Amino acid sequence: MTEPSPEPGRLLRLDRLLANMGYGSRREIQQLVRAGRILLDGARPAAADQRVAVTPGLSSRMTIDGRPLDPPPGVALMLNKPLGVTCSHKESGPLVYGLLPPRWRGRDPMISTVGRLDKETSGLLLLTDDGELLHRIISPRRQIAKRYRVSLERALGGDEAEVFASGTLMLESDDKPLSPAVLEPIGEREAYLTVTEGRYHQVRRMFAATGNHVTALHRDRIGSLDLPPDLETGRYRVLTAADIGAVIGTADSA
Ligand code: URA
Repeated sequence: MTEPSPEPGRLLRLDRLLANMGYGSRREIQQLVRAGRILLDGARPAAADQRVAVTPGLSSRMTIDGRPLDPPPGVALMLNKPLGVTCSHKESGPLVYGLLPPRWRGRDPMISTVGRLDKETSGLLLLTDDGELLHRIISPRRQIAKRYRVSLERALGGDEAEVFASGTLMLESDDKPLSPAVLEPIGEREAYLTVTEGRYHQVRRMFAATGNHVTALHRDRIGSLDLPPDLETGRYRVLTAADIGAVIGTADSA
């Protein structure tokens, strides 16, 4: 489970911070400090137990062997998820976490996906180590919109937009109807669908309920954050405060 990240600006012992970021054991960090391989603001820290303020800016103030520090705890990422990788820490086969630097697997708090995309769904996936942010994004109360580009086996019948917008569509084995969703056809067998919930296989099941079959599914927007066209499949990027504002609503981003 993703824990709340240290509050930005919270003071942490350098050796503990770096050990929790996967750079090695505390003893190994102490050796790195003694060997002068860690620099803070261009100078060797006085000691491995020196306290440092954990802020996003720390990455540009600290270097290890000349390389900027990884994003400190409290990080959020967007990933352009490829087909065929699973949003899980445990399952077998290729996992989305395998697309992040190997050192990040040793992080505590760990980085987790914000909700999930199916193995065979591509596109915009958020990840964070900040449990509070994660809950703000997935909370059903917030109804954050998620837009999918959907390809279909059969041509749209014509009444799907009305059915999805009705707020009465009941999916098999669910116990309450779906919230209204917005369908925008872009071709005979292609459409954007915007939903505000995150039920299991929701989009595929919605089209199955209309007698159709989803052949390809790609998420391209969360809130008003678009998947950037220059973010290649399989690549990730650290979210800015403005990106997070676009996901959860600007008024809430502070
Ligand atoms: N709906 C689905 O059916 N699958 C996803 O991955 C996301 C939404």
